[in-house]
Amino acid sequence: MKNILFFGGGNIAQALISGLLLNGMSNKNIFFVDRNPLNQKKLNNLKVKSLKKSNSDIDIVILSVKPKDAIQAYKEILNNYKNPKIVSLVAGIKSSTYIKLDNKSEFMRAMPNTASKYGQGITALYNSSFKKSNFKKVSSIFSKLGTVIEVDNDSKIDTFTGVIGSGPAYFFQTLKSFEKKLMRLCNQDEKIVREIIANLMKGVGSSIEKDGDLDNLIKAVASKKGTTEAGLKSLKSNNLNQIFEKGLNAAIKRSKEISNEF
Ligand SMILES: NC(=O)c1ccc[n+]([C@@H]2O[C@H](COP(=O)([O-])OP(=O)(O)OC[C@H]3O[C@@H](n4cnc5c(N)ncnc54)[C@H](OP(=O)(O)O)[C@@H]3O)[C@@H](O)[C@H]2O)c1
Repeated sequence: MKNILFFGGGNIAQALISGLLLNGMSNKNIFFVDRNPLNQKKLNNLKVKSLKKSNSDIDIVILSVKPKDAIQAYKEILNNYKNPKIVSLVAGIKSSTYIKLDNKSEFMRAMPNTASKYGQGITALYNSSFKKSNFKKVSSIFSKLGTVIEVDNDSKIDTFTGVIGSGPAYFFQTLKSFEKKLMRLCNQDEKIVREIIANLMKGVGSSIEKDGDLDNLIKAVASKKGTTEAGLKSLKSNNLNQIFEKGLNAAIKRSKEISNEF
């Protein structure tokens, strides 16, 4: 699969395009359709081409518009491309909603996250009607952007959306408490604070990757009657884990609700 068209060129399309370029894909093979002048400008800066008319050399179309725009955009793709291979990144809307509008195209869903921009993404794939060989090719494109998992039904994409698609934002929100303390500690030097927080997260990532078990990792930091133990005790007595789980469940529920709105 040589040429990719992003139909919708906003946040997630830009993250994927940046990741693909970082991985060595040529900008000559990446195209976009987008109506928003600000996003057009950002994509022009990435040196990928805007497509005004349909192009028969397009191998896959990545549907990357908001759920409210998805059906209209899907119809536009069907009008412009014969039997297209469409990968939908759209949260919520089930495969059957698209397939009942047209059963000649190949269709699948992908749910990436924005860390794909750095090759550190996590993407769930669900194959609705792609030929096996084509699905494999799409899977290998996403694997250039990080970890790929395959799920075996549409509703697992909803769960994944709430947990991983939205995942980076939960950590950004949590890190705001660290930022507040560190800004004071570092005399309001934003650059240093960012570097410290980034290293903290990189260290956490490497520890998990190398040592695995989360309980053992906690034990290695928390000594008896020490500071970590005091902090953890307070977080536990305030039900941090239950609060977090409630948040994840709210996001999963919203993903399923969106699916019923279309
Ligand atoms: N952002 C994430 O982290 C993330 C992660 C996983 C999946 N997703 C999914 O990816 C999709 C896109 O999210 P996003 O955050 O990238 O949205 P976004 O930033 O709003 O980008 C969508 C872009 O598509 C344009 N557009 C919409 N309909 C169009 C049409 N018919 N013709 C041409 N351009 C059109 C929009 O223009 P206007 O601004 O003028 O509407 C906008 O520039 C969503 O369905 C979301 O569920 C997002």
